[in-house]
Amino acid sequence: MTTTLTTGLARLADQASRAHPYPLLEELREASPFTDPASGIVVVGRRADCETVLRSPRVSSNRLGAGITKVPQQPNLMNLDAPDHTRLRRLAGKAFKPRVIERWRPRVQAIVRELLADIAASGADSVDMVSDFAYPLPVRVICEMLGVPREDHPVFEKWAHSIAFTIDPQLVPGELTTEVERNVDEARAGFVGYFSRLIEERKREPRADILSELIAAEEEGDHLGERDLILTCVLLLVAGHETTANLILNGLLALLRRPDQLRLLRERPELAEAAVEEVLRYDAPTQMVTRIAREPFTLGDHEVAAGQPLLLLLAAANRDPRQHHEADSFDITRGDPGHLGFAAGPHFCLGSVLARMEGAVALDAFAQAFVEPRLDEASLHYRPHVSVRGPDRLRITFQDIRLDTLPAAGTAGESEVGHG
Ligand code: HEM
Repeated sequence: MTTTLTTGLARLADQASRAHPYPLLEELREASPFTDPASGIVVVGRRADCETVLRSPRVSSNRLGAGITKVPQQPNLMNLDAPDHTRLRRLAGKAFKPRVIERWRPRVQAIVRELLADIAASGADSVDMVSDFAYPLPVRVICEMLGVPREDHPVFEKWAHSIAFTIDPQLVPGELTTEVERNVDEARAGFVGYFSRLIEERKREPRADILSELIAAEEEGDHLGERDLILTCVLLLVAGHETTANLILNGLLALLRRPDQLRLLRERPELAEAAVEEVLRYDAPTQMVTRIAREPFTLGDHEVAAGQPLLLLLAAANRDPRQHHEADSFDITRGDPGHLGFAAGPHFCLGSVLARMEGAVALDAFAQAFVEPRLDEASLHYRPHVSVRGPDRLRITFQDIRLDTLPAAGTAGESEVGHG
C-alpha cells in the first residue's frame, strides 16, 4: 500500500499541511477513490466522482451520530435528507432569493467602505486583513440580516468561531479536545437562548430583516417551527461567516501573489464576479464535505459499503486536470468555472448568492482602493480548521488607501431592505 493510502488523511489533518495542501490533495485525488485504513473513510477526490456522489440518492447527509465529524451534529438543513430537507430548504430558501439578497448590496458596499475608512484613519501603513477586513465584513452582514444589534456582534463572532469546528470532519480518530467540545456547547447554548428571545421579538414586531422573512416564510400553509428557526439561524451564521471570510482572504492572497491578476482586476472591475469564481475553484474556502453511504455501491472500481463515511475533497476536484486546463494556475479570465466550491446537488450552498456578492464587493474594493499593496509572507498563518480552511493572520503593507475609488456611500440601511 502506498503512503498516500496509509497516511494521506493523517497528513491532511496535520497543521503543517494547512498553508500548502495542494500537492497532498493532488496525491489523494489521483489515488482516489480508496478507503483510508485508519478511519474507514472513503476518500473521493476526482471531479467527476465528487459530483456523482453529491448528486447520488445512495448517500445521506445525515451525520447525526455518524462519527464523521469532530463534534456531534444537530438536525439542521445540512444534516437532513429528503423529504425533511426538501421542506426546510424550500422554506429557508425564500429568505435567500437573489432579489432579496441583491437589496443588501449597497449595505455591503457601505460596510466595506466603513472598514477601509477605519484602516485609513488609523494612519498605519500595514494592516492585518483578517481582523480588520475579511472577518468583520461577513459577521456584520449576516448579523444585520438577522437583525442582531451591533453591540452583540462580538459575542456572535466568538460563538461562530467556536462552532465552526462542528463542520470539520474527523480525519484522525480521537482528534477532538474537550476544550473545543466545551466551546461548542457554550456557543450552541448561547445561540439558542439568544435566538429564542429574538424570534419572540420579531414575531411580535416584524422588521425588514432575514429573520422576519424566515418567520413569515410559508409554503402551502407550512411554516418553520421554533426549533427549525433557531437551528437555521445558527447554521446561517456558521455556514456564512468563516467561509465568506476565507473566500475574501484566499482571494486577497491569490491576487497579492499574482500582481498581474491584481492589475487586471484594477483595470477591469467588471471581472470581480469572475475573480470570485476563480477563487472558489483555485483555493476553495470549504475544502471538503462528507456523506454517509445508505447502501452499497461502486464508485469507479471501488466498492463502498453501506454505512461507510465518504470524504469529498472539493478543493482537489476543483484542480482536477481532467476538468480544468492548467488547473494549478490562478486566472481570473479563465471563464470555465465548473467548480464545486459550493458543492452540487440538493445541498448546494444556500448562501451562494450572498457569498458571491460579498466576495465581489470586497475584492473589487481591495483592488481599487489599496495603493501598492504587498503581502507580508512571514505574517501568514492558518487556522486549525481543515475543511473551512483559511488564514487567521494575513498582514499587508500599502502606500495609501483611496476611498474616492469606492462606490458612493450606500444608502440602503434596514429601512430600505424590505420584504417582498
Ligand atoms: C464563500 C462562501 C461559502 C462557501 C464556500 C460555502 C460552501 C458551502 C458548501 C460546500 C455547502 C454544501 C455542504 C454539504 O454539501 O454538505 C454549503 C451549504 C450551505 N451553505 Fe454555504 N458557503 C458559503 C457561504 C454561505 C453563506 C454566506 C451562507 C448563508 C448566510 C451559507 C449557507 C449555507 C447553508 C444554509 C448550507 C446548507 C444547505 C443545505 O444543506 O441544503 N453559505 N455551503
